[in-house]
Amino acid sequence: MNPVLEVSKLSMNFGGLKALENISLDIFQNEIVSLIGPNGAGKTTFFNCITGIYTPVSGDIFISSLPQKTEKENICGLKPNIITKKGMARTFQNIRLFQNMTVLENVMIGRHVRTHAGIIASVLKLKKTRNEEKKIVDDSYNILKKTGIENFANEKASTLPYGAQRKLEIARALATEPFLLLLDEPAAGMNPAETIELGLLIKEIREKENISILLIEHDMKFVMNLCDKIFVLDYGKKIASGTPDAIQNNPVVIKAYLGEDFDFDA
Ligand SMILES: Nc1ncnc2c1ncn2[C@@H]1O[C@H](COP(=O)(O)OP(=O)(O)OP(=O)(O)O)[C@@H](O)[C@H]1O
Ligand SMILES: [Mg+2]
Repeated sequence: MNPVLEVSKLSMNFGGLKALENISLDIFQNEIVSLIGPNGAGKTTFFNCITGIYTPVSGDIFISSLPQKTEKENICGLKPNIITKKGMARTFQNIRLFQNMTVLENVMIGRHVRTHAGIIASVLKLKKTRNEEKKIVDDSYNILKKTGIENFANEKASTLPYGAQRKLEIARALATEPFLLLLDEPAAGMNPAETIELGLLIKEIREKENISILLIEHDMKFVMNLCDKIFVLDYGKKIASGTPDAIQNNPVVIKAYLGEDFDFDA
């Protein structure tokens, strides 16, 4: 089985700063994988490189959205909108919603990636787009249901509680029908109950939508309980990879990130 994402020797510089150095990782279908490491390690930069926001200085980013497909495609250097169309969707560390639009409209924006009607035609309500528009509304509402925020459908995004805004970002990403969902600190700012709920939602997405998930997160209890495997970055380098068990017992990771008194059960 091919990995759905195979990143090979990816490097990125900002002036003299080596933000990423020769990073390789792979993700297989239905895996939940985490990218962890200290502040400034290069985690968000990695997301920005594989989603086309930055063009890496070197390396390859192969995708293979159908695992049985033998050929893989190098998407390195493609524009973000093309990469979304190819099935990689993301959320952002700092929430980026259309704050003045309703919750439903935010998801509809994501849905337009998979429809023929252009956004402008839809806004103008051209006749031929009306049927498709109705389907977009129905599909978007269903995605809100899946993420448990359908009660907010007609509220402005800006009025949502913080945890629900993070879920709305996930809903908008899901609306693009990804094979891989990338979440940048999805639990940041959530209270313990919201974090538990988020973990359940991510597992449900993996099971029901049959997709893979790569997430950046600092909440180690959340990561260790949720993920199949973990990659650890430090100063732009990959310092470890493995199962949660292996990672929490890895002396290099403990020294660089987890700390000597890290307690998995805390
Ligand atoms: N656009 C940019 N221009 C210059 N330097 C940048 C840029 N983006 C990131 N950096 C630098 O690259 C390094 C990696 O940053 P990045 O945001 O990827 O870290 P991170 O692992 O996501 O950290 P955090 O956990 O704090 O979100 C940092 O030193 C950061 O200051
Ligand atoms: Mg970051």
